[in-house]
Amino acid sequence: MIEITEARNCEHADDVWQLCQELVADGTTYVFRPDAAKEEVVDYWFPQPGKTFVARLDGELVGIYLLRPVQPGRGGHIANASYFVSSRVRGQGLGKRLAEHSFDQARSMGFQAMQFNLVVETNTGAIQLWEKLGFSTIGIIPKAFDHDELGLVDARIMHREL
Ligand SMILES: CC(C)(COP(=O)(O)OP(=O)(O)OC[C@H]1O[C@@H](n2cnc3c(N)ncnc32)[C@H](O)[C@@H]1OP(=O)(O)O)[C@@H](O)C(=O)NCCC(=O)NCCS
Repeated sequence: MIEITEARNCEHADDVWQLCQELVADGTTYVFRPDAAKEEVVDYWFPQPGKTFVARLDGELVGIYLLRPVQPGRGGHIANASYFVSSRVRGQGLGKRLAEHSFDQARSMGFQAMQFNLVVETNTGAIQLWEKLGFSTIGIIPKAFDHDELGLVDARIMHREL
């Protein structure tokens, strides 16, 4: 059974770095370059201010998400989030479960909406998931992402009320 718990950097840095090896190597969904350092990747997943949750299957880290305000101060009522599920367990509902978990968490933290800032246009699986979960595309940033195979591709800004 997969368990989702809140995580702190100091307890989980090594596991997060291990989990993210494939994400860093992939270069089609997240901003990390292939030579990204452990500190950069781990710091990304543990933002301040923000909260991080991890999913474990039989003790092994298989998923992660973060929540943070998209802006400080008067823009701080909109959350930003990022999600990653190990390819080992994809297509089994964990991404959706993490997203729904994050909506509940975000509401309990007082956020009123959620915004994704860089959904790569070619990441069609993620776009389908976010649309199923009520997100709409509110903008396109031309050539915002340096895709490992395709070069510069567009990215979406996606938004939903909570
Ligand atoms: C996006 C991601 C988190 C989805 O996780 P997942 O555990 O595979 O997703 P789920 O199994 O919960 O799928 C949920 C829904 O999304 C849809 N979906 C997910 N991945 C899909 C894909 N590659 N193609 C088509 N549909 C997909 C499924 O149809 C499913 O719909 P259903 O509930 O009606 O059956 C995962 O693929 C991932 O970590 N990708 C790499 C990082 C990434 O792209 N993160 C998002 C950045 S915006």
